[in-house]
Amino acid sequence: MDARIETAARVHEIAPFHVMEVQTAARALEAAGRTVIHMEIGEPDFPTPAPVVAAAQDAIANGAIYYTSALGLPQLREAIAAHYREHYGVKIAPERVIVTAGSSAALLLAMALLVNRDEQIVLADPGYPCTRHLVRTLEGEAVGIAVGAESDYQLTAELIARAWTPRTRGALIASPANPTGTMVQRDELARIATTVAAKRGVLIVDEIYLGLSYAGEPRSALELGEDIFVVSSFSKYFNMTGWRLGWLIAPQRHVRDLEKLAQNLYISPPTPSQQAAIACFEPETLAILEERRREFQARRDYLVPALRDLGFGIPVMPTGGFFVYADCSRFGMDSERFALRALEATGVAFTPGIDFGRNRPDAHVRFAYTIARPKLEEGMQRLRAWLPTLRQA
Ligand SMILES: Cc1ncc(COP(=O)(O)O)c(C=O)c1O
Repeated sequence: MDARIETAARVHEIAPFHVMEVQTAARALEAAGRTVIHMEIGEPDFPTPAPVVAAAQDAIANGAIYYTSALGLPQLREAIAAHYREHYGVKIAPERVIVTAGSSAALLLAMALLVNRDEQIVLADPGYPCTRHLVRTLEGEAVGIAVGAESDYQLTAELIARAWTPRTRGALIASPANPTGTMVQRDELARIATTVAAKRGVLIVDEIYLGLSYAGEPRSALELGEDIFVVSSFSKYFNMTGWRLGWLIAPQRHVRDLEKLAQNLYISPPTPSQQAAIACFEPETLAILEERRREFQARRDYLVPALRDLGFGIPVMPTGGFFVYADCSRFGMDSERFALRALEATGVAFTPGIDFGRNRPDAHVRFAYTIARPKLEEGMQRLRAWLPTLRQA
């Protein structure tokens, strides 16, 4: 039977994650005995900090494995609120913190709360693909706006105002962003918040990479007012991807509805992970994480000039996260072919732009600096040896 008849229309409009195909090809090369330099992977290479692992082990040994409130453990909600006070200088009530199964579930809750059928959410293209797929899953419409170097690959208040229609429900910003690693400047974010509020829309800000910022003191969108939805996670800065834990900060008046949604969608976030995450905010853990943040910054400082030297176009310096989005058009083929050929010829794996939207994906690839510096250097050496042969071909 035709699979299209058996499944709902929404499934057909959700694209697979192409990076997985690069990963499969990379694994096949490794199985054949080649060494692969993995720059396609979007998660930190560092292990979860030891105090966090120890807290999880204690919790499991003590039998703390039962469901929690759908909103999360009160102690963890308080610790997250305290973290905003101490690190970002914003006071938020712990009652506004909703602990979720990764920021993926935080995005799902926010969209389920806010988006009616056929309503639009405006977001940047290129951007993280799952967000637009979530909106589609909920029968909304994700409207990707092409952004480029002139706006640091971010939406602006003007772009949002121009894209606004009677069906627009709100805008989503990711700062720092995946795949570009760029941030929205504080003044622009304030203008965006004002524009969206004037349209009676909602602003959702994905700050999953905010802890990994390299341009001075990072600032949270939460300082702009209590109506903004902020999504974040333990995955990236806290090195806890597989623990599946994140959070949503929501306006107080929506917490009860979000609780209902969380109860029904997944009952509660994972309990051992929540017990573990309480240890994230201890000074000992934060010291480990700060050292790792500096290491990511040093990798970026090496990688961006090295890629530019090889002929990749990187017009805006990424200031957060661990990705570099690079123009590969001068190498004379589309990015998917380029990524696969590079993998075959050099064993260097990176992601073609196709995962991130429709805005010139064929001209871009994403490099992740989630590997140690000697490996990064080896990757650049391999590309340096191969690229000239390509231009002659
Ligand atoms: C911008 C962005 N938002 C959200 C997520 C989801 O991450 P998680 O569910 O692990 O918190 C990712 C993951 O790569 C991401 O890059």
